[in-house]
Amino acid sequence: MCGIVGAIAHRNVVPILLQGLQRLEYRGYDSAGLVVVNNGQLERVRSTGRVAELATKSVNTQGFLGIAHTRWATHGVPSERNAHPHISRETIAVAHNGIIENYEELRARLSAQGYQFTSDTDTEVIAHLIHSHYSKGNSLLAATQMALTELVGAYAIGVTAADNPNLLICARKGSPLLIGVGENEHFFASDASALLQVTKKMVYLEEGDVAEVNLDSYSVFNAKGELVVRPAHISELTNESVELGDYKHYMQKEIHEQPQALADTLEAVCNSHSLVPGIFGAEAAATFADINSVLILACGTSFHAGLVARYWLEEIAGIPCNVEIASEYRYRVSVGNPKALVVTISQSGETADTQSALNHAKSMGQPHTLSICNVPESALVRMSKLRLLTRAGPEIGVASTKAFTTQLAALFLLTLVLAKQRGRLTKESEQKHLHELRHLPSAAKSVLGIEPVIAKLAERFADKHHALFLGRGLHYPIALEGALKLKEISYIHAEAYPAGELKHGPLALVDKDMPVIAVAPNDILLEKLKSNLQEVRARGGELYVFADANTRIHSSEGVNLIQMPEHAGYLSPILHTIPLQLLSYYVALQKGTDVDKPRNLAKSVTVE
Ligand code: F6R
Repeated sequence: MCGIVGAIAHRNVVPILLQGLQRLEYRGYDSAGLVVVNNGQLERVRSTGRVAELATKSVNTQGFLGIAHTRWATHGVPSERNAHPHISRETIAVAHNGIIENYEELRARLSAQGYQFTSDTDTEVIAHLIHSHYSKGNSLLAATQMALTELVGAYAIGVTAADNPNLLICARKGSPLLIGVGENEHFFASDASALLQVTKKMVYLEEGDVAEVNLDSYSVFNAKGELVVRPAHISELTNESVELGDYKHYMQKEIHEQPQALADTLEAVCNSHSLVPGIFGAEAAATFADINSVLILACGTSFHAGLVARYWLEEIAGIPCNVEIASEYRYRVSVGNPKALVVTISQSGETADTQSALNHAKSMGQPHTLSICNVPESALVRMSKLRLLTRAGPEIGVASTKAFTTQLAALFLLTLVLAKQRGRLTKESEQKHLHELRHLPSAAKSVLGIEPVIAKLAERFADKHHALFLGRGLHYPIALEGALKLKEISYIHAEAYPAGELKHGPLALVDKDMPVIAVAPNDILLEKLKSNLQEVRARGGELYVFADANTRIHSSEGVNLIQMPEHAGYLSPILHTIPLQLLSYYVALQKGTDVDKPRNLAKSVTVE
């Protein structure tokens, strides 16, 4: 999704802006642009395609302050004329993330005032609106504040004026934005990773904030226009954590980082001898004592993590659990339960649908909120009473991998803490679970050992157009996740079904051209699953079975066994996810798709 970078310095900021945009490429975009102020004029360069093209076109561009943007088209096709920044009357330039809902009405009004529109975007109205106030003698800050009061929708913006070479303005409402503090130079960006090459000191803007950014200082004003102080954080991100290193793709790197990401996420509990609610925040014990159910809200891969958690929560903690797709829940007329624990799950913490679903849940009188998230300063974390941070590190590949498995680890901890609180966990079983959790990172590492087998297997998928994924129980959501990964990055149409559903419809799809991928843990449902696999073989379907040790499933004609280690009990879904991630990665390599930036998709979905 769109990205913003702004910089003001005693040096040429173009390389800083370009490097920042490159670091935001992972969010997904279709065009890019930048503007600098040079000798009292706005100099703009825009291009469709990759930031590398923008860099080539900008070799002769220089300036001491500027703003830059990667665009993910919402209003108007991806094209150079729709790329940001947008300029009003050669004076005001604006880069914008988000969606302005009342832009048609504003556009009609500004056109009537004589403003010429040169793009189809909603953003251009912001530039003209600011210009209309600025041209009446208001300061750039005041003109921006006035314009913002007229906007309905979500935004993070960067603003610069041709005749104001010592000042940048930025503002946010509904889309993230932070200021980077340097030595006599300042920056802003929609994501901390864009600024790591220049500073680690970050100031996160809050809803409705507008900031003036100068060479040697910055000032933040809240939605009421009052001067406020927002705390500075030193980012824990490292340059290496957002660099590719020896891997071919970020997705491959992130799949391999899972043992460490799991170890980091579980660090606090694995080094202790018992589980305490405090890991979710100071109010957790009181909150958990007051709940009688769990409502999980999330999108995409994070939703799949919620589906796994439902099995755990009901079976181990004995607490009723509902899991809802956030974009549906936010508009569904449902019955609020004041004693529900509302759990939002999100890698980014900025997903617009999940934020709105959480607001909706609160507005229905459900005050107990917990966020499981990978970004500590994100909106979702700040909106929730309790939190557990996954410590997966930055996830750059659009397809979520290590974020998912660490979300599962966090949800398992939630299950154990609730089970303990509800008197359903004996001392012995607590110790047994902790022991298994401590072993999880090394178990994940050993599963990664089957990578070469999967790389070879993937060759057989290169000419396929469809695939069916099967799982049962705890592993049905893992089949869903496997299918999502395959469609996302290899563009193969994939569906997932609980294997018991086969004969209720999808079996009609099965023939020799339909690869059927089965998740086969050595659990209580194994024999049932085996019968379902027989149904597939009887119709000529080619089976690829990811089976634990001792399942007595063997390779034979039409049956390809991919041998997994011994069954890992309740933690098995985490381990069974890894080979499916690898499968989609290697199939995508076979198909030559853009693995880290699949078409039409964005990393952080900050618009509805
Ligand atoms: C799939 C994927 C998406 C995200 C979804 C929610 O690989 O990454 O389905 O899981 O967009 O994003 P977050 O977790 O950031 O709320």
